[in-house]
Amino acid sequence: MISKSTIDQVYETARLEEVIGDFVQLKKSGSNFKGLSPFSDERSPSFMVSPVKQIWKDFSSGKGGNAVTFLMEHEHFTYPEAIKYLAKKYNIEIEETEQTDEQKQEANERESLYLVNEYAKQYFERIMFKTDQGQAIGLSYFKERGFTNETIKEFNLGYSLDEWQGFTDEALKQGYQIEFLEKTGLTIVKPDKKFDRFKGRVMFPIHSMSGRILGFGGRILKIDKKAAKYMNSPESEVYHKSKILYGIYHAKQSIAKEDNCYLVEGYTDVIQFHQTGIKNTVASSGTALTPEQIRLVNRLTNNITVLFDGDAAGIRASIRGIDLILEQGMNVKVCGFPEGEDPDSFAKQNTLEELTTYLNENSKDFIQFKASLLVKEANNDPIKKAETIREIVNSISKIPDQIKKEIYIQECSRIMDISEDVLFTTLAQINKKGTQEASKNLKSEQKAFQVVKSEPKAQKVDLQYELERKIIEILLLYGTEVEDFEDLVLKESDDGELKLEPVIHNAKVFEKIYLDLQEDEMQFTNPNFKTLYYSIIDTLNQEPEFSTRNFVNRLDQELASDVTTILMNDERYSLHDWERNHIIPKEKQHSIAQLVTQTILTLRCYLIDKKVSEYQNDTLREDVNTRSILEDVKDYLGLKMLLSRKLGKVVGSKV
Ligand code: CTP
Ligand code: MN
Repeated sequence: MISKSTIDQVYETARLEEVIGDFVQLKKSGSNFKGLSPFSDERSPSFMVSPVKQIWKDFSSGKGGNAVTFLMEHEHFTYPEAIKYLAKKYNIEIEETEQTDEQKQEANERESLYLVNEYAKQYFERIMFKTDQGQAIGLSYFKERGFTNETIKEFNLGYSLDEWQGFTDEALKQGYQIEFLEKTGLTIVKPDKKFDRFKGRVMFPIHSMSGRILGFGGRILKIDKKAAKYMNSPESEVYHKSKILYGIYHAKQSIAKEDNCYLVEGYTDVIQFHQTGIKNTVASSGTALTPEQIRLVNRLTNNITVLFDGDAAGIRASIRGIDLILEQGMNVKVCGFPEGEDPDSFAKQNTLEELTTYLNENSKDFIQFKASLLVKEANNDPIKKAETIREIVNSISKIPDQIKKEIYIQECSRIMDISEDVLFTTLAQINKKGTQEASKNLKSEQKAFQVVKSEPKAQKVDLQYELERKIIEILLLYGTEVEDFEDLVLKESDDGELKLEPVIHNAKVFEKIYLDLQEDEMQFTNPNFKTLYYSIIDTLNQEPEFSTRNFVNRLDQELASDVTTILMNDERYSLHDWERNHIIPKEKQHSIAQLVTQTILTLRCYLIDKKVSEYQNDTLREDVNTRSILEDVKDYLGLKMLLSRKLGKVVGSKV
């Protein structure tokens, strides 16, 4: 684990505008920087970076956060990877916290395996480019396949000499230990000898999401019936075949940007597609797709297009694995190639335009595709047709989203010419049988919740929303400041008249807000604001040195994004050139204390208005005691008058 002090130091040192400046061209705009969103294609800039607040906000995609979240979003780093990246950029030494001996050894071992793999990658590259055998055999093979030098270098392709110990001897000479050469599988150790696993093969290093070398695939060049065409690294601490997608490192940005991922079978398919210009392509490396692999893609996009070779066997085999992708809630399309072609050969013969057009024209929604395929197969055989229905409904049953399920049922009813009722009944049967029923329901509930959650919250100007937002903003910006609050208290003067008199008391902003809201039993209506409110109050209570940056850093993605939206609110208005709602207090003209008092009073007035109109609606009903309601309303209106007077005083007084 990276120590907290290292993390803190990284946060203190990193300049957001410098970090982002490495990826996005930023232009100064007032106190901020502006640029084109790296998350969408746009012509006018909606991407803002605030050097003062050290936060960024992308108004086109809604994303936002700090330096670390930017790297996680843009580079698809994990949290530790982002911290390490920043530490390296700013020459900060990474201090690891105490680990158990076992953890240390495991981490050391993993590091050693990575080191060996990295060395091997460079070795195979050097052999291919710098030796006669490498150029004559390895390099010319890749050239023949149509790969350019640039592509070869980008994918770190290489060559392993056709010698028993070419690599092993060199690695040992360089000081790499035989233990790790064996564990990575680069060297095969037998009691009487050791030799190179990949002897005489061209090498495809396999990169992790962040670019480390997990293992290798090696392709044989001679025609040899006994030897496998491709040989891969064995399972190790760093190479888990089921969790790897070949090409993910080179494809991740494009997958996120295009919001789609092409899935192919082989190494060469990925490379050829990439070279042609379709960079959002990864390979399952010839095995059935696993849930872990799907999750890798799912971090980047919800859409996957499975490409398969142009033969019937290929189609059948591909179709089987696809239910798994549906189960993860992804949208799946499929696309085949002409007879005898695979993605590699097809891309090699076509230009980017041709390939793009082909993919667009031939990608079909998976369920529709499967339905029409099966209908064709079943032909007029009623028994086969019944089987077919089951099979297709089975696929549909995997989709977590209820609405999508229904749409597919309708669609299949049309394609297969079967009534929707029959399909729904079949679906119900399958659901009942499924032992995972409970977990499915849970998934679709989560989905429903997500739909509700992601509804745009601030489309119309909703005063309560704005005020709740304002309170969060004040807490974040000024929570720990100590201010003199002028509380207006109702007092009876000597001549018996009621008057508002100021009483000054000194308090921290967050305490004042907390107490005032508690007094009114005020609850936030927006669920995210409510969570944020309690978590800010909690943090402020515990940490006298409250830092917005550290706070944002600990929040989950959604809340962090909310916070940045709040903090960048002014910029949003300036971006869209909107007139701000006049009712919302403008802090710049007033002291913090005034701002606080005013915001809370406005909120209280608003809530009273709301209450009163609720009561007024109630009086329209026959079964209620109108008189008592009117009494209540009168009380509320009285309170409102009082509050308005207070508010008037606050607004009226000059600093
Ligand atoms: N594969 C493997 N081991 C094998 C055969 C295949 O690991 N013995 C994996 C490789 O990742 C390979 C993919 O399955 O890229 C697809 O296999 P295949 O279609 O046979 O190879 P191609 O990618 O078409 O390879 P090439 O064009 O080089 O013949
Ligand atoms: Mn091929």
